[in-house]
Amino acid sequence: MHNYIQENKERFLNELIDLLKIPSVSADPSFKGDVSNAAQFLKERFQELEMDRVEIYPTNGHPIVYAEKIVDTSLPTVLVYGHYDVQPADPIELWHSGPFEPVIKTTEIHPEGAIFARGACDDKGQMYMHLKAFETMVKTGNLDCNAKFIIEGEEEVGSVNLEAFIRANQAMLAADVILVSDTGMLAKDVPSITTGLRGLSYVEVEVVGPNRDLHSGLYGGAVANPINVITEMIASLQDENKHITIPGFYDDVLEISDEERSEMAKAPYNEMAYCNSIDIKETAGEKGFSTLERATIRPTLDVNGIWGGYIGEGAKTVLPSKANAKISMRLVPNQDPEKITQLFKDHFEKIAPKSVTVKVTPHHGGEPALTPIDSDEYRAASLAVEEAFGKKPIPVRSGGSIPIISMFEKILGLKTILMGFGLDSDAIHSPNEHYGLFNYYKGIETIPLFYKYYAQIKK
Ligand code: BES
Ligand code: MN
Ligand code: MN
Repeated sequence: MHNYIQENKERFLNELIDLLKIPSVSADPSFKGDVSNAAQFLKERFQELEMDRVEIYPTNGHPIVYAEKIVDTSLPTVLVYGHYDVQPADPIELWHSGPFEPVIKTTEIHPEGAIFARGACDDKGQMYMHLKAFETMVKTGNLDCNAKFIIEGEEEVGSVNLEAFIRANQAMLAADVILVSDTGMLAKDVPSITTGLRGLSYVEVEVVGPNRDLHSGLYGGAVANPINVITEMIASLQDENKHITIPGFYDDVLEISDEERSEMAKAPYNEMAYCNSIDIKETAGEKGFSTLERATIRPTLDVNGIWGGYIGEGAKTVLPSKANAKISMRLVPNQDPEKITQLFKDHFEKIAPKSVTVKVTPHHGGEPALTPIDSDEYRAASLAVEEAFGKKPIPVRSGGSIPIISMFEKILGLKTILMGFGLDSDAIHSPNEHYGLFNYYKGIETIPLFYKYYAQIKK
């Protein structure tokens, strides 16, 4: 298989480049045609792979691409999940090259080159590794498991139509394990497997004061300013220890044992390098927890955007009529996003002074996920990564969210292996997102080993 990958290296990369040229931004309706072109592109690439079945399923939003190859019903079945949609490219002026004009450049971390484009790592590059790994297995006669692929176009907007699709197609999606590459690893020479994801509760708040913008001289001092109020309210949601003050917020948090915490602390980590990589002088967060813990096993509350009043040039003296903010709460096992959203809403309404009215609007959320490490699938993944990297992978919890993972477990009763090959420095969701060529090819090499070990263990 190694030879096949070497011989087809260039083409594997060129196909990914073609996919990256399609601006499949799911959040922006003006890209709807491009999103469906990306689905069509994948359908065609699957059709070149001797699949038994390839289909595009339209949804109320963006289409789902499905493909399968059943070699032998007595073999275990791997269901691969990934997404072909990407985040918006904004702020576009901060890109050094066009977000949809992929280029290969070297970086300090990727001296052998990385491909720069929106979606390079999240998740087109990582998802496409699975097609090329599958191709490698088929063409070299090494496909040890049945394979099914479900590639969606709405992950970055909350996978809103995927749940219904899974519910309606349970027989078609029947499998033994779900395999996903949409997360990261600790470093190129420190392989890891993600064993947990945070959930998400996302709300938008509006604070309304007077019925129109007022002269800040005539009214200032006598009428509550919605921006002053919203900032005070938001500030009060965390105490001086950066503990979230919403009553009941921590009730269901799964506290992890000291033993697991000390296991986690063994992951190589350098606080100074962390700070330097994002140009900050020191980290900040909940008292009593390490940086790694704060970013993975602890829940958070962050303002993602805040607006109101006059932000144009010069000084306009205005006491604005309203202020808004978007707030995300990253959740950990066993917090329930709907419950947390309700707790937030009740609390935010309660702390509002009488001088304003507040409105809380929930957006999409997602449940946290945990994967056991004493399972057949984890053992297979660990062996695969160990063989490919020459080092046993470290199990690590991640701070990001992939809401559909908990749905797979609830609806299909399947556990997921989060075998991701991205790096934190790949700048996913940021300008100049990229994906290392080393990581791309290493992923293509590792995936068939998972199939191999999984089939062996399941025999
Ligand atoms: N692939 C990411 C999530 C991720 C990245 C998990 C790195 C772990 C490590 C995914 O595409 C993503 O961005 N998810 C969103 C949630 C979604 C509801 C918009 C997120 O985490 O913000
Ligand atoms: Mn992703
Ligand atoms: Mn993403």
